[in-house]
Amino acid sequence: MEGSIKLALVGAGMFGGDVHARAYADLQRSGISPQLGRLGLDAWARELAPIRFELAAVATRTEKSARRAQADFKARTGLAPRAYWGEQPWLEVLRDFPGLDVLAVATPDPLHTEVILAGLKAGAHILTEKPMCLDLREADRIIELAQKQGRIVAVDMHKRYDPDHVRIREDLRHRIGEPLYGVAYLEEPIEVSASTFKWAEQSDPFSYVGPHWVDLICHYYHCKPVSLTAVGQKKRLVRDGINAYDAVQVRVDFANGMSFHFLNNWITPPDFEGPVNQGHEIVGACGKIESDQQDRGLRWWNQGGGSRTANNHFTREVKRPDGTAAYVGYGVDGLTAGLAAICRVKFLGASRQSLAEVYPTAEEARITVAILHAARLVRDLNFKYLQAGQGATVSARFGEDGITLVDPNRKGKVFERIYRKAI
Ligand SMILES: NC(=O)c1ccc[n+]([C@@H]2O[C@H](COP(=O)([O-])OP(=O)(O)OC[C@H]3O[C@@H](n4cnc5c(N)ncnc54)[C@H](O)[C@@H]3O)[C@@H](O)[C@H]2O)c1
Repeated sequence: MEGSIKLALVGAGMFGGDVHARAYADLQRSGISPQLGRLGLDAWARELAPIRFELAAVATRTEKSARRAQADFKARTGLAPRAYWGEQPWLEVLRDFPGLDVLAVATPDPLHTEVILAGLKAGAHILTEKPMCLDLREADRIIELAQKQGRIVAVDMHKRYDPDHVRIREDLRHRIGEPLYGVAYLEEPIEVSASTFKWAEQSDPFSYVGPHWVDLICHYYHCKPVSLTAVGQKKRLVRDGINAYDAVQVRVDFANGMSFHFLNNWITPPDFEGPVNQGHEIVGACGKIESDQQDRGLRWWNQGGGSRTANNHFTREVKRPDGTAAYVGYGVDGLTAGLAAICRVKFLGASRQSLAEVYPTAEEARITVAILHAARLVRDLNFKYLQAGQGATVSARFGEDGITLVDPNRKGKVFERIYRKAI
């Protein structure tokens, strides 16, 4: 099968500039087949092997960051993508590359929808960072347009591909019986919210990293939410003049009777031993699973360096005989899954529906967005009431009739329907 996939990357910061760009450099070098076995898609390896990949453009907000991303990619591959910058640089990219196959979106959380919709309109497939978007109506618009255009919108939910999580999904969850309750936590370093992100005030720790665990739990159990409640705290970042939540806790009740707590912060001090602290636990009717995603057993300390851990499952370098390094891990697998589906559509005429089991779809992401959307509203109301000494009594209900906010403090308007389509 001859042919090529032309990609453009919008957003090349901490994640786009590192994980996406490195994955695309390897694709450009060796194609997609070397990665497929990790996803159980090895049967496609021979067919997809001849497909060439080219990162044609990279677009960021400033000229400096665009030039840096361009130079980094050239240093890895010998080939420089065209660099674009500005407030809406993706529009120029789409104009200059009318046959673009894939628009990869790694812009800040609040700036996904606009880029995704522009890419779909231009006929590109989309590979987007999580969260797909922050607003449920935006999720509906993305899905509608993707269906109309027959294009893939793949969301980078790489926790699905962590080898421990694959084992839990395929095996362990069946051993513990019906799920009763669980907890999933992801605690990010303060560096992220206080210095890396210029956009911390437009997001929050649950919107930023909560989607990973919400998606994973929904993916394990194919379950939908029926209700949630949420609270958040603002004590640390406000000290630095950043009006953002330090931490958010959300409890989601699912239709299968399971209740799950999602705990997120982005104020972990740099003294912590790992890059992030993360894990999850599930208690079932006949057993329990504990998965520490942070401490995988590799720990070291040295003078002046403190005690440290590393998660080599996420991404790791594998030395090649020529001295360069391949980049593998579940961090790459999330991108490979979407790209494999895109190749099947482009070169083998596969339909979106027939590939729904192969990659994290926009339709699945919609459920996560519904939870993020409702949690944000509930959390803000509870924050206000807690400040006033009235307790955190607000919740949200999900169902066939949409999403309803339940606020006992609002006389005469306790129930407010905020979304009217079935969840
Ligand atoms: N999958 C994961 O584990 C993971 C990890 C980190 C971040 N992310 C997600 O990736 C996305 C990017 O996060 P990040 O950590 O790289 O953030 P970042 O702030 O480090 O980088 C943002 C990038 O977007 C660019 N950008 C900002 N405004 C733009 C505009 N108007 N037009 C074009 N480019 C623009 C910036 O120039 C920068 O290159 C976020 O949605 C985040 O949630 C995912």
